[in-house]
Amino acid sequence: MIFSKRDLPELDMTKIPQSIAIIMDGNGRWAKKRGLVKKAGHKAGADTLERVSKVAEKLGVKHLTAYAFSTENWKRSDEEVSGIMDLLRKYLDDHIRRCKTESFRVDMIGDPSRLDKDIQEKIITLENLTKEKTGLFLHIALNYGGRDEILRMVKKVGAEVENGTLKAEEIKTEDIVRNLDTANIPDPELLIRTSGEYRFSNFLLWQLAYTEFLFTDKLWPDFTGDDLKEAIYEFQNRDRRFGGRNGR
Ligand code: FPP
Repeated sequence: MIFSKRDLPELDMTKIPQSIAIIMDGNGRWAKKRGLVKKAGHKAGADTLERVSKVAEKLGVKHLTAYAFSTENWKRSDEEVSGIMDLLRKYLDDHIRRCKTESFRVDMIGDPSRLDKDIQEKIITLENLTKEKTGLFLHIALNYGGRDEILRMVKKVGAEVENGTLKAEEIKTEDIVRNLDTANIPDPELLIRTSGEYRFSNFLLWQLAYTEFLFTDKLWPDFTGDDLKEAIYEFQNRDRRFGGRNGR
């Protein structure tokens, strides 16, 4: 990133993005560099998510959507997949245990049906236990793929047309939005991807239409609260025109 810690600029607290999405990439390379197994990288990645969520909440971010496991990640080795699932169990258990003293609200996006039953139950438990919380709303993308989400949305809208509650020629943007997993999440204003990869890998295909993208070479486990502040600073200095001209 461009600033040294000492130079970290002042943020305009009236212009904090309300909805941020993060692609937490680079856990494997972080572990490899240290001669550790991949699971150690994912563990460090889960810890980073904790730290960054806390800073995001302090800054006044309302929604943080984190890509934890994609529909394509099942292609990884059984060992790596079960390692991530174990970390997820622990992450959910920790949040369930601490939820009385925490202000986060947590839910998941993605198709839960392929996740183990106990994980599905823990997700429902955590969603229910935190649904009155007013702090950061953390959305964890699990078995999530943008194309899969759009396909599931099309089936839901199609079923409404089939049962007569909706006419095909009257389908509006709102009908699409309310049938996406993200119906309760404002479109991200800022997307951050770590590890020097410049793609968005099937994440939030519909929702990223006008999102500002920020790519950093840092590997996800090395990403800090100051890096988040810096990303927000960069966001605040972009000219968002949404297809218009803003006086140009
Ligand atoms: C990408 O790094 C990261 C993932 C596929 C998984 C992200 C998972 C976590 C941050 C931990 C689990 C999350 C929770 C909420 C418990 P990579 O392995 O593709 O990195 P690489 O490209 O360097 O190999």
